Amino acid sequence: MGFPKVRMRRLRRTDGLRRMVRETTLHTDDLIAPLFVGEGEGQRKEIDSMPGVYRFSLDTVVEEAKLLQRLGIAGLLVFGVPNAEDKDPEGTQAWASDGIVQRALKALREACPGMVLISDACFCEYTDHGHCGVLNRKKEVQNDKTLEHLELVALSQARAGADIIAPSGMMDGMVQAIRTALDENGFPEIAILSYSTKFSSAFYGPFREAAESTPQFGNRKQYQMESGNAREAIRESLLDASEGADMLMVKPALAYLDIIRRIREQSDLPLVAYNVSGEYSMVKAAARKGWIDEKAAAIEILHGIKRAGADLIITYWAKDLAGWLKDEHAPLPEKAAPPQEEH
Ligand code: PBG
Repeated sequence: MGFPKVRMRRLRRTDGLRRMVRETTLHTDDLIAPLFVGEGEGQRKEIDSMPGVYRFSLDTVVEEAKLLQRLGIAGLLVFGVPNAEDKDPEGTQAWASDGIVQRALKALREACPGMVLISDACFCEYTDHGHCGVLNRKKEVQNDKTLEHLELVALSQARAGADIIAPSGMMDGMVQAIRTALDENGFPEIAILSYSTKFSSAFYGPFREAAESTPQFGNRKQYQMESGNAREAIRESLLDASEGADMLMVKPALAYLDIIRRIREQSDLPLVAYNVSGEYSMVKAAARKGWIDEKAAAIEILHGIKRAGADLIITYWAKDLAGWLKDEHAPLPEKAAPPQEEH
């Protein structure tokens, strides 16, 4: 059967009809908000390259977290930003019991007992060279030595109150190492969200300003993936699943929607997509120039990521979206007379 009996426009005629047949909807339960926490007091410093995103101190981050919880955001992803003088070649502050992220987790756990706290477990914010682990003489990140440190990071974050540990360094064996460390030290209930398929990406640029984690030489291509590789991308996530990851992640999201779809089809684990800093900043920049409608573009992007198969999205739009979604799901106005379409 075809035209004229079939008219696709029938179900697009009014707001009510369009809403009724909407296949993909966003909900605050799908959203994870990243939070950057640094030293100091009363800080709320906007990141130049990420308008609307701030670096907080311990006191202000608690206020922000309470607000996000009231808005119904599903979880918080916490990044510590230590002072430059606290960085060293090994990134020892990453596992200090009084490190910035550990203090942040403790404060957040106390202020928002029911909130899901996810902590990024990596070294690039804590090492003076900005790489995601310990270097050897050739200045390459040593995988197995880094795993030993990663175990310490995971334990310190679990002790501080994290519900979920999220290793983001793309070290081989990182999930297994963390799972074993947690299980052997009394934290069998703490979950692991692995940054399982993470690409070496130009879209992390603004984040590195926010977290002060730019590598001081070279790049991350020895551990993060090449953008062209799809089969390898699937293997990465399935391996982490077999090591005991509770949730998987694809990062970035937009250039990798095919990977999200394929992992969704091959694994039953909850799948998270990280809508990264560069993906956010591009839209922000264009919107500031008046070239694009930020809200419409953001919703369209997040629909795309969800439609591809992501269950959860880490996004810098989380807070804005909570407001926008209220409008999207508000009851239809009582007398919204639909414009009669002419044929
Ligand atoms: C740490 C880490 C990075 C991001 C999240 N965790 C940066 C990187 O790998 O260089 C990027 C997030 C974003 O761009 O929004 N390894």
